[in-house]
Amino acid sequence: MVHVPSDARALARTAQRVVVLTGAGMSAESGLATFRAPDTGLWSRYRPEALASAEAFAADPALVWGWYCWRAGLVRAARPNAGHHALASWARRADVRIVTQNVDDLHERAGSSVLSHLHGSLLDFRCLAGHPYDLGRSELPPEALERVDPPRCPRCRALVRPGVVWFGENLPDGALESAADAVRASDLLVVVGTSGAVYPAARLPGLASQHGVPVIEINPEPTDLSPYADISWRTTAALGIPALVAALDREQDADVTRVR
Ligand code: OAD
Repeated sequence: MVHVPSDARALARTAQRVVVLTGAGMSAESGLATFRAPDTGLWSRYRPEALASAEAFAADPALVWGWYCWRAGLVRAARPNAGHHALASWARRADVRIVTQNVDDLHERAGSSVLSHLHGSLLDFRCLAGHPYDLGRSELPPEALERVDPPRCPRCRALVRPGVVWFGENLPDGALESAADAVRASDLLVVVGTSGAVYPAARLPGLASQHGVPVIEINPEPTDLSPYADISWRTTAALGIPALVAALDREQDADVTRVR
């Protein structure tokens, strides 16, 4: 059984409004690669400047489109892990708001509603003019760097692009504001599986500290965000979150059966 630090349990037990900030580590145990892990991380195998910017798409649309279609295929094939499911279950007994940097839909498929997808949603395709585009269940390339010509928008003929935020682009309208409002109004921030390397998302733990909101970090490694954490719990998303939520459930059951 995973040991839950008693101070993490105490904070989670009393918290009424919880914000959970997630990053790629949240989906690692679903088989989706993180960005910065040496050897296996996407940015250690592929060049972000050639694949994740509007300039890259303009220079070589087929390369960029093929790469994102490959990633979309991996996301479709992946399944939520025990950590995603535990967050959905926690939200049934407390006000739990999820703010994610992930572009997958694993929180939603586990039954959570996500307050803010800070970096967009991979599967929400749209054309360069902003019209939504349904990719349907079309075949997706099995290889990362397979070139695929992007489709054109049936309404305006502009090229279709993935619904992610590329480097140098603004976050989706209102995404940061609603996340920051939720953090300010919360009484616990749980930060799961992010290195804290990308701003403005990485500012949220500092914002929590400024407002006296305690921070629990769940990550097997220390990160740039660890200095903001009141509790740094060195475990994984799929081990730690279910153990924490199960501990809360046990305490609630004990409360119900205790003679008063
Ligand atoms: P990173 O790859 O930078 O960091 C992943 C973090 O997850 C690391 O701190 C790992 O230690 C941790 N980790 C790995 N396995 C884990 C597990 N099983 N459970 C918990 N934690 C685990 O990914 P992000 O921080 O999400 O942006 O990256 C932030 C942004 O950089 C991404 O949203 C993306 C990327 O460029 C855009 O595309 C705009």
